[in-house]
Amino acid sequence: MKNQIKDQWNAGLYDGNHSFVSEFGNELIKFLAHEEGERILDIGCGTGDLANTLYENGVNVIGVDQSANMINQALNKYPHIPFVVKDVLSLSDKNEFDAVFSNATLHWVKEPKQALICIYNSLKPGGRFVAEFGGKGNVQTITNEIANQLKRSGVTYSAVEQFPWYFPSIGEYTTLMEEVGFHVTVALHFHRPTPLEGNDGLRNWLDMFAVEMFKHATTETKERIYASIEKNLRNTLFTNNRWIADYKRIRVVGIKD
Ligand code: BEZ
Repeated sequence: MKNQIKDQWNAGLYDGNHSFVSEFGNELIKFLAHEEGERILDIGCGTGDLANTLYENGVNVIGVDQSANMINQALNKYPHIPFVVKDVLSLSDKNEFDAVFSNATLHWVKEPKQALICIYNSLKPGGRFVAEFGGKGNVQTITNEIANQLKRSGVTYSAVEQFPWYFPSIGEYTTLMEEVGFHVTVALHFHRPTPLEGNDGLRNWLDMFAVEMFKHATTETKERIYASIEKNLRNTLFTNNRWIADYKRIRVVGIKD
């Protein structure tokens, strides 16, 4: 799922507190317009829920994810589906798939053009690439506050090395798609406020996703910073008794000409 060295992914926490990732993905599936018997690759399949939806629709689906924890959980939940530990940059399939699908994953890949080349090569001529992930400005209220608090606490933080994500504009990303050879048929950039369940929703999100940003903080300092972040963001991001993260998505569809 992401381009990080160690497997920081807790599949149980992901299914428990972050099941919204797959739930929002159901909207993206509509853009896939899949047909029974098609061979479709799900990149960054996580614990396999969307792949299983495709399987139940008669698709011949394969799920890949960089996290072994995620793949083990996917195999436990859906033993009838082939799930494989693999990074998008290691894809070596050629002219293999009718479609490549990816939800909430490609923002973890810091070499977007290389990823697009691998995806393009893996598609049959006329194949579709359908993806959604974090776009320009995604979770910026949260990440700006993290960076401010790290600085105030004197914790080393380098955005170039430690900002974990790639959040492009649609202009930037569709240009890369075209350079690789895709005919871009859909490109959207939209706000999608995302509820984080429970009183601890924001700190659970930080624990799950923002590990790299805190890598130079001691456990004690990190706890103190979490409390400050919650205090400072409560006015903007806590409404009706829950945290709402400022997600911004890009959604694209490209055809291999
Ligand atoms: C996202 O889906 O946009 C996202 C998820 C985790 C961290 C950052 C972004």
